[in-house]
Amino acid sequence: MSSLVDGVPSKPDVSDASVMSPWNPTTPMCPRPWCSITGNVPANRQHRPKTQSVTILGGAQDVRTGPPEAARINRYRVPGSGTVIRVSDRRSRNHHPEEIAGRRRIWEIVELLGPQETGRNRYISIAGVEDGWKVISKMQVRGAPAIAIVGCLSLAVEIYNETFITKQMFKQEIEGKLNYLVSARPTAVNMKLAADDLIGMVNDWVEKSVISVTEIKERFIHEIEAMLEKDISNNMAIGTFGAERILKDVPSGSSLQLLTHCNTGSLATAGYGTALGVIRKIFDQNRLEHVFCTETRPYNQGARLTAYEFVHDKIPATLVLDSMVASLFKSRKIAAVVVGADRVASNGDTANKIGTYQIAVVAKHHAVPFYVAAPSTSIDFEISEGDRIEIEQRPDREMTHIGEHRIAAPGIRCWNPAFDVTPANLITGIITEKGVFAPNDIRKLLELQ
Ligand code: MRU
Repeated sequence: MSSLVDGVPSKPDVSDASVMSPWNPTTPMCPRPWCSITGNVPANRQHRPKTQSVTILGGAQDVRTGPPEAARINRYRVPGSGTVIRVSDRRSRNHHPEEIAGRRRIWEIVELLGPQETGRNRYISIAGVEDGWKVISKMQVRGAPAIAIVGCLSLAVEIYNETFITKQMFKQEIEGKLNYLVSARPTAVNMKLAADDLIGMVNDWVEKSVISVTEIKERFIHEIEAMLEKDISNNMAIGTFGAERILKDVPSGSSLQLLTHCNTGSLATAGYGTALGVIRKIFDQNRLEHVFCTETRPYNQGARLTAYEFVHDKIPATLVLDSMVASLFKSRKIAAVVVGADRVASNGDTANKIGTYQIAVVAKHHAVPFYVAAPSTSIDFEISEGDRIEIEQRPDREMTHIGEHRIAAPGIRCWNPAFDVTPANLITGIITEKGVFAPNDIRKLLELQ
């Protein structure tokens, strides 16, 4: 047994069907980024650990390597490798990682974008914001909600053992560090909105003379922990609203076929997923005949992550290349496309993984409804339209290489935007945790908040 995971609670084996999903007791749990803060720690946290760190398992540039401990890592063993971010107090053992409510100790985020060829799990320790920034920017953690959660967790870890003399010192430090984290990946808005919210809260607390700096820090960490639970409940609501809307258009009792792009599931969020949450919900209702997922070049989130989640949950699914979508619409009856979002502008234009726009164009041609599933944490009411969204450019290497192997002719130039913007007029509806909105009605969400 490896000592790499010492002190981290045992992970259930994914092959163990007795480990049931909290959202569907008949489906085994899908590995996902969790916040499972376990250990029955009282609200005042009197048993705080002396040390706390975040660990990432998997990823390409990991600093500590070694054989994984099978009982724990089986859960993430895939053809490829896994990434787990953990915030551990080295105390909790044997707690079910899905037990979130009422128990406070371990934070974990799972990713599966490690090098496919190693087939080995590896760990990176994250001591704080600098490491958080790196794993986000290198896409060892990705997906708009997961980026925000991991970024904020890395700050929580960094300040966990820090003592602040004055409220001003605390405020300045967290403001600077949150803004730094926002810069790790510019398109997904979730990190920025989370930073704005947290900074706003701290400003309010600082104004109140009755709150000490220690209490401000406690509250701040608590808010970050709460993001994980909120994200899961948002996703469950998105699943319910999305399933209801999509199923409305098919004869009652019949099943349907869907298409999705990129990865929006348990591995891109705190759990359950957005677009993938909608698919899970339809599947849970026995109404899913089949789902198709795109490979999602160049980073292959569809082939690596979404396909993994489908196989894991035994959801009937087929992988297609990005270039097959038009043929798929022609040859199969696809009831709807459902994708996620990195940022929705206030007119409904939506930035999402590169390739989303062309799927929307083809869907329109084939009269296939096109839905975006996004929590309000992905909606940027400060941006009037999609053209104003900054699109992240990724390194050429993601296109020219598969792992270490070069596939493109040396010397060729590359253009590698990570996202594109689908105009609102190609979007049938935006599925949020508050309901489904026509894209040009998305501002109505503000009234419900
Ligand atoms: O570059 P990535 O993998 O971070 O892109 C992810 C996506 O485009 C997702 O669709 C989006 O972040 C929503 S995840 C719920």
